[in-house]
Amino acid sequence: MLRFSVYLCMLWLLFADTVPSEDISGCEQQPCQNGGVCESHNGGFRCLCASQSQNGQLYGGQNCTVALTGCNENQCENGGVCSPLFVNDHHSYTCICPAGFTSPKCQTPTVFSFESRGYMYIQTPLLDQEAPLNVTFSFRTEQPVGTLLQRRVDDLLFSIELMHGHLCLLSLRGQGSSTLVQELPGYLSDSKWHTVEASLGGVVSLIRLLCTEGSCTRESNAEVQLLEQASSLPEPGAVRHSLFIGAISGNWTLGRAVEEADYPPAFLGCFRDVFVDSRLLLPVIAPEGSHIQANITVGCSDKDKCDDSPCQNRGRCVAKAGGVTFVSATGHMRETTVQR
Ligand SMILES: *[C@@H]1O[C@H](CO)[C@@H](O)[C@H](O)[C@H]1NC(C)=O
Ligand SMILES: *[C@@H]1O[C@H](CO)[C@@H](O)[C@H](O)[C@H]1NC(C)=O
Ligand SMILES: *[C@@H]1O[C@H](CO)[C@@H](O)[C@H](O)[C@H]1NC(C)=O
Ligand SMILES: *[C@@H]1O[C@H](CO)[C@@H](O)[C@H](O)[C@H]1NC(C)=O
Repeated sequence: MLRFSVYLCMLWLLFADTVPSEDISGCEQQPCQNGGVCESHNGGFRCLCASQSQNGQLYGGQNCTVALTGCNENQCENGGVCSPLFVNDHHSYTCICPAGFTSPKCQTPTVFSFESRGYMYIQTPLLDQEAPLNVTFSFRTEQPVGTLLQRRVDDLLFSIELMHGHLCLLSLRGQGSSTLVQELPGYLSDSKWHTVEASLGGVVSLIRLLCTEGSCTRESNAEVQLLEQASSLPEPGAVRHSLFIGAISGNWTLGRAVEEADYPPAFLGCFRDVFVDSRLLLPVIAPEGSHIQANITVGCSDKDKCDDSPCQNRGRCVAKAGGVTFVSATGHMRETTVQR
């Protein structure tokens, strides 16, 4: 008799161990169709529908049985990838934009370029604070020198520059000369897109190469906050904190008179996807007379100024600010700059 009850007890324990959890989940009925994966969830089940298409079709809904139609007419422009959604019994979609485009249908370009010395003044409320500024951007150029970005914090100026094709972070205080803070190892003046993150003005200021064309993957830009445009450029002395994309000439960044010979080298090339503290900067043509920007072109010309092969007699063509330079075949620089 004693033996009998021990057996019963063991049987009961076995059942207690296995049966109840399966009973309440519902996954054992295999409710998830079309490659969906079942998992127990809050005492019931939940289907994770396949993100790869089944026979050219994506499915959603509670049991992955609803054919998703949100992308049936491809809504995304400029090569954006459409991803269908089914929320509250309603079909919709979201676009995953390629680099250089944004907005719900990827119709808005984020690319702009400098074809001659120019700058863009950035105004954000955060600039008035002492807090470090986080800037990420992609750039492309074949010029080995150029000033990509300048940030002033009181009497300290940070400058991100290309020197001999290497990206450098420099700092300059007051009347002093500039100090090289950091130099990235790779040669970046190779006409490829490079994505850089910079943290400027904190305890430590640094730059970091995030990726180069091809190795960059962009996470879906579901909610992108845009940067508000400044309406006018304040007087050089009036603002202690400022940010410029490109190279502004003269007195502005340092708050003191600068000889033209000491102007920072101009950046000639393209920018795209510039984020300032996670807010996206869109290129717009500012009203005349506002001086918040100079010599900005929306878009990026793929055309190399040397493509037309202007150099005769085995001369080598080097693209340059505002035109081309001819280098004679003997190697002696006989510069002739041709404006286009
Ligand atoms: C999903 O499957 C479960 C279990 O098979 C079923 O009870 C439920 O009605 C189904 N839901 C839909 C929306 O088809
Ligand atoms: C804009 O480009 C022109 C032509 O190269 C140049 O003369 C001018 O100084 C530039 N403007 C600024 C503000 O750098
Ligand atoms: C820079 O400042 C000097 C002296 O204050 C002034 O003469 C000069 O015109 C200024 N240059 C520019 C480009 O604003
Ligand atoms: C800087 O901004 C980028 C882009 O918005 C973001 O991915 C990154 O996490 C930020 N880094 C820091 C340290 O805030």
